[in-house]
Amino acid sequence: MDARIQSLSVDKLASASADALVLVIAGDHLPAQLDPAVAGAVQSAIKLGDFAHKAGKAVLMHAVPGLKSPRLVMAAAANTSVKAAKAALEAGLGQVKGREVAHVAVAFVGFGDLGSAIWVQAMQALADASYLYQHTKPSVSKDTRVTKATFLVDKADLKAARTGLAQGSAVASGVRLAKELANRPGNHCTPTHLAEQAKQLARRTGMKVEVLDRKAVERLGMGSFLAVAQGSDEALRFIVLRYDGAPRTQAPVVLVGKGITFDTGGISLKPGAEMDEMKFDMGGAASVLGTMQAVGELKPKLNVVALIPACENMPSGRAVKPGDVVTSMSGQTIEILNTDAEGRLILCDALTYAERIKPAVVVDVATLTGACVIALGGVRSGMYASDDDLAQALLQAGDVALDPCWRMPLDDEYEEGLKSNFADVANIAGRAGGSITAAKFLQRFASKYRWAHLDIAGTAWKGGAAKGGTGRPVGLLTQFLLAQVR
Ligand code: BES
Ligand code: MN
Ligand code: ZN
Repeated sequence: MDARIQSLSVDKLASASADALVLVIAGDHLPAQLDPAVAGAVQSAIKLGDFAHKAGKAVLMHAVPGLKSPRLVMAAAANTSVKAAKAALEAGLGQVKGREVAHVAVAFVGFGDLGSAIWVQAMQALADASYLYQHTKPSVSKDTRVTKATFLVDKADLKAARTGLAQGSAVASGVRLAKELANRPGNHCTPTHLAEQAKQLARRTGMKVEVLDRKAVERLGMGSFLAVAQGSDEALRFIVLRYDGAPRTQAPVVLVGKGITFDTGGISLKPGAEMDEMKFDMGGAASVLGTMQAVGELKPKLNVVALIPACENMPSGRAVKPGDVVTSMSGQTIEILNTDAEGRLILCDALTYAERIKPAVVVDVATLTGACVIALGGVRSGMYASDDDLAQALLQAGDVALDPCWRMPLDDEYEEGLKSNFADVANIAGRAGGSITAAKFLQRFASKYRWAHLDIAGTAWKGGAAKGGTGRPVGLLTQFLLAQVR
């Protein structure tokens, strides 16, 4: 995405030169200073009944007299909030989709004092519109994608726009990486591929990376992670990626991402319908890498470590079986009653490994449970935290980033069902409260530090016609990290 800023006041918008001028309009009337050529076009569309100052309304007009750009798009925002502005911009960009519009000029009208947050989101909306998956579909045409954006900014807003667009651009490249990795099929995006991507990211951004193979993981005693990986012929990887933006004395934030590159369920095999979507089961890993990409561009004064256990969950003659008991790195024994509850089995060893880093806080991110999809759908990620301040920080980061989450409970009573006659803990409880009992399992391995868990099973990807990774929760995590800078 080629993005630039042009200083231009609202009375001169008609002079903007692009394939389409996209106008995002708030309020129930046009500001008096608005460029008369533009204002005239909007008024005529209103008179014709094609447009109104009503949320969701968006229209495209051609060859408007006095306008330098051959197309004018107007989109109405429900109010002057950042969320409404982004929704309207997306509706406006929807109008140019599929047309030969490579370059758009974007202006916000009637929003009053624009903060920087609106620009953070504007950049992300543009990047979203420009994203095209090509890795295994190189034949797809790029011609109908926006590739260049000019943001038309009033002089008074220039400073906020520069700050916001820089942050938005970093988040957008993180989201892009997360989407791209999630979208790559399981035979391409293997644990080895994820590790290779982490190495490239480290090279690009000047971070340190360490990739552990099976032998190293065995030496660490990660019996739970190894049990999941043992059914697959694909080599496992444990990725450690470090960003040092602050003195060594400052304890790092640790992000842990579930990296199951394909989840068949193992011996507790999943049904066939939509099983292909289990290539997205590394969405936690993808979003953690995406967040590291954003961090690498923004360079905040902070230390961050990413931990990614990556493997496949497959059935085979060597696969772990229901009833098998394994010993985790923490020393706790686990009875694996269902091999499809594998995410928690690889995460628990990563959470124990995190103790060595002496973290300020650990946040794990995982497409962990179907139950979370039932509870919260695709709007908010499930969020669990052992600490109220941490929960508050994540809630707020999600709201600001328009990548929201919702706090879920961790009452001790929820742990009842994890009792086992043959091990310290079982890997599943009953069907009730499935997302919560998964979190309770993880909590047993995260007692030595402040900890939070994001269940992104409902938010990491979309199914159906728009099937694909969403890049969530890169926005939330990046916002959270930026707020940690002291
Ligand atoms: N990766 C799945 C969770 C999932 C399922 C995410 C569907 C999104 C859509 C996870 O490994 C899993 O299989 N969880 C089981 C746990 C159960 C066996 C306790 C589930 O949710 O059914
Ligand atoms: Mn599973
Ligand atoms: Zn899974």
